[in-house]
Amino acid sequence: MPRRELPPLSIEADDVRCGRVDPHYRVALIRLLAAHAMAEKLTALGYERALASLTDEALRVAVAKKLAEERHHASLVYRVLRDLGVSQQEADRATIPMLKAPSFEAPLRFARGIAGELDLTIAALSLDMTGLLMIGINYKESSYAPHARAAERILQDDAENKRFAAGEFTDAVARFGADAVSDALCRWLPATVNFFGPPGSGFSYECLCFGLKACDNKDLAEMYLSMLERRLEPTGVAIPPLTKGYPRALSNAVPGF
Ligand SMILES: [Fe+2]
Repeated sequence: MPRRELPPLSIEADDVRCGRVDPHYRVALIRLLAAHAMAEKLTALGYERALASLTDEALRVAVAKKLAEERHHASLVYRVLRDLGVSQQEADRATIPMLKAPSFEAPLRFARGIAGELDLTIAALSLDMTGLLMIGINYKESSYAPHARAAERILQDDAENKRFAAGEFTDAVARFGADAVSDALCRWLPATVNFFGPPGSGFSYECLCFGLKACDNKDLAEMYLSMLERRLEPTGVAIPPLTKGYPRALSNAVPGF
């Protein structure tokens, strides 16, 4: 693990704008913020598409709330980028190469539209948990104070949101059955774990040195699997086994699954 050079919340927008930080800091920061904003935007898009197809009124209310929150999260991060002189269009353009990587498969698949309430529930739970870790552990302690403050606001929404929080796996099993939940987890788990990105990448190393992240992607992925295991424990549903190397896949995957 590289040594962190900058403490949490130590850099403001003026420091970057006036060139008081390493130019590589600005490059890494914009790349990270653009990826964060895109993940929020894709999640919002997924809820928007889901809302259009749902008929259950209680679920529609819950999804509409999540949609409003995710749009708010995206706008918070785009605002941080705007203060650095980066427009939404420029930020989105910067993410084009990232969208082809396994780390964006889960939010992209979510944005393209989720078929059925079970997959919506499992995908939403998965994305909520990954967001909680990335934002709560990495971004909340960012050396870039505006990003850390945006993360704090996002976490307030997540703390208030009970609809897709812990306990939802138990509800999902009661509603759809353990086998169906297990199948849905098989469909979502590899992409969700890959959302954290490759272990030990050069970009992550740079982010850790600059204090833009606190943990390597691999550590966050392990924390995610532990959290998932704890949440699944009362349901009796096991975590599907995954391959070790990145990108992770189901270890017992059959062609065409
Ligand atoms: Fe979000």
